[in-house]
Amino acid sequence: MKQIFFIIIALGLVGCTKSKERQEALPLPSATTVKLDPAQVESGKTVFNQMCAACHQADGVGRAGLGPRLNSPDFLGLANDNFIKRTILEGRPGTSMMGYKVMPNVANKVDDVVAYIRSWQNNYATFRDYKVDWNKKISGDPKAGEASFKTYCSSCHGPTGSGYAEGGSGPGIGLSGFLKVASDDYIKKTIEVGRAGTAMRGFGHNRGMANISLKEINNIVSYLRSRE
Ligand code: HEC
Ligand code: HEC
Repeated sequence: MKQIFFIIIALGLVGCTKSKERQEALPLPSATTVKLDPAQVESGKTVFNQMCAACHQADGVGRAGLGPRLNSPDFLGLANDNFIKRTILEGRPGTSMMGYKVMPNVANKVDDVVAYIRSWQNNYATFRDYKVDWNKKISGDPKAGEASFKTYCSSCHGPTGSGYAEGGSGPGIGLSGFLKVASDDYIKKTIEVGRAGTAMRGFGHNRGMANISLKEINNIVSYLRSRE
């Protein structure tokens, strides 16, 4: 009897260590309404339609090969305002996304543009805040990550992750402009959950057809990080 008890406890312990490796459960959807200044949103909309919609399309729906979708609830739940603002100001060198800090008509109104982008969140009945950690470092095996990247990601993000520049249909996630503003956890959670309504499917949380393990995701993050 005692022995069986021990076996059960031992199995329990194995189960615990294993579950640590598992992905955290997805945050529950909530009806978060962001409070924004309507005048600021309106001003941001004007700038967006003049300066950004050519590539990102009206309402930020995006177009493959031109500009990614910005109004996806997944993007809005992963990116924070600082990530969006820095991306607009610093751009993504090596891609058609220029740094708008050199254009005063955008740079002076960048907070309005961010507010307009953020306002799309309110178009959704429910919304998940993925609570990305902007400081956490993720460690993995970059060599193994490179192999996984070539298997799962290259077909869209390009052989070396340069994206559109390499004929890919996805953004240049191996380029320094992206890696400078993205945190390890942002990259990891993006891989896990994907971007609803785009070709970027989630590779975790049973969202994908062939989920890859958390370890493989960590390896891919360290491979991308090693390219910076
Ligand atoms: C079928 C095509 C496809 C595959 C395969 C794919 N992606 Fe993507 N990925 C995309 C597209 C398209 C986007 C942009 C989505 C949008 O419009 O917001 C994207 C966006 C991303 C982003 C966000 C980039 C940013 O600028 O914020 C990351 C990170 C990413 N993908 C990582 C990966 C990784 C890692 C893999 C492999 C495990 C992968 N993707 C596989 C198409 C793909
Ligand atoms: C000439 C086309 C073009 C214009 C104009 C443009 N963008 Fe972009 N934008 C892109 C491309 C292409 C990317 C993805 C670059 C990459 O591969 O990382 C991007 C990426 C972004 C991202 C990051 C999205 C993500 O998934 O991480 C944001 C935010 C963004 N742009 C906002 C803007 C805003 C705001 C404006 C106007 C002030 C603007 N863009 C103008 C082409 C453009």
